[in-house]
Amino acid sequence: MKEKIIHVLKGADGYVSGQQLSQFFGVSRTAVWKTIKNLKAEGYNIESVTNKGYRLVSSPEIVNETEMKSYLRTKEFGHNIIILNSVDSTNTYLKNLADSLPSGTVVTARMQTDGKGRLGRVWEGNMDDNLCFSILLRPDIAPREAGAITPLCGMIVSRAMNEYFSGEFQTTIKWPNDVIVKNKKICGILTEMSCEDDRIKYIVVGIGINVLNKSFPSEIAYKATSCAMETDKLVNKSKLLADILTKMEKIFNKCGYRFNNRYMKLYKDACATLDKTITFYRDNEEIIAKATDISSDGELIVTLEDGTEEKVFSGEVTVQGIY
Ligand code: BTN
Repeated sequence: MKEKIIHVLKGADGYVSGQQLSQFFGVSRTAVWKTIKNLKAEGYNIESVTNKGYRLVSSPEIVNETEMKSYLRTKEFGHNIIILNSVDSTNTYLKNLADSLPSGTVVTARMQTDGKGRLGRVWEGNMDDNLCFSILLRPDIAPREAGAITPLCGMIVSRAMNEYFSGEFQTTIKWPNDVIVKNKKICGILTEMSCEDDRIKYIVVGIGINVLNKSFPSEIAYKATSCAMETDKLVNKSKLLADILTKMEKIFNKCGYRFNNRYMKLYKDACATLDKTITFYRDNEEIIAKATDISSDGELIVTLEDGTEEKVFSGEVTVQGIY
């Protein structure tokens, strides 16, 4: 009922009367009034004017379950959502409860006290600056086939952000899955997998998008950006989250968590690492190469200075002109 009323108020050009709502949903006007009262308690600013009705003025700035679900178009992803004020890490929280939670469960928090990044790094963020969330997946594939999930998630977030911020800014991808804007990182993704007897028990994909940050610590300022630094457009975190989850379920259902021709092309088109000179480390030795292709398992294929080809699986890659 809450989701339905919000949906109507959002689509309305002005006021919607209590009578219209009660007739439309076949409930009493008192039931409509009670629902509106609950929505106000959740942070919706709804104006009520006698003889006119209700008008939605603004939606809450933090992720709100009702709001998120009013935009969500999935069968599974995001239907079970846990919203926390503060947590050590949404990935850790979800991993600890994974055995008792349904696939597609999402955990989001207004802040993390021990947010984790790739390669053992820390992911920091002040209260409400980030949209950070993790999703629990149980793909029916062997662990050796799971390599594409990480880059596919980068592509999914990049495309969802491009649609959301269309006309404001566009994102690309630094291999494997950093989402970047004008060569600076706006979103990081950490994928963690638990396996048993050559099968995947679960995968937790953790996504952190810099939304409201106005600046960054000097160590990372040269390579980090946020939505607020790229545009004045207000970000509705509930909608952005719903858009990403909707795209994620659609794409994973279509491709079975692996690259197909269409998604490989889309990934490569968005990948700012390809055709660039890159630097990576092999056994503490610095190697310079040209990034030439992406394998079906999501590895970066590089051509060394002597012409030989090599696959880079993970680890830090510095891309000329990016970071
Ligand atoms: C990286 O680029 O190094 C990956 C950063 C991933 C951050 C997200 S925020 C939500 C989830 N919880 C975590 O502890 N990490 C991920």
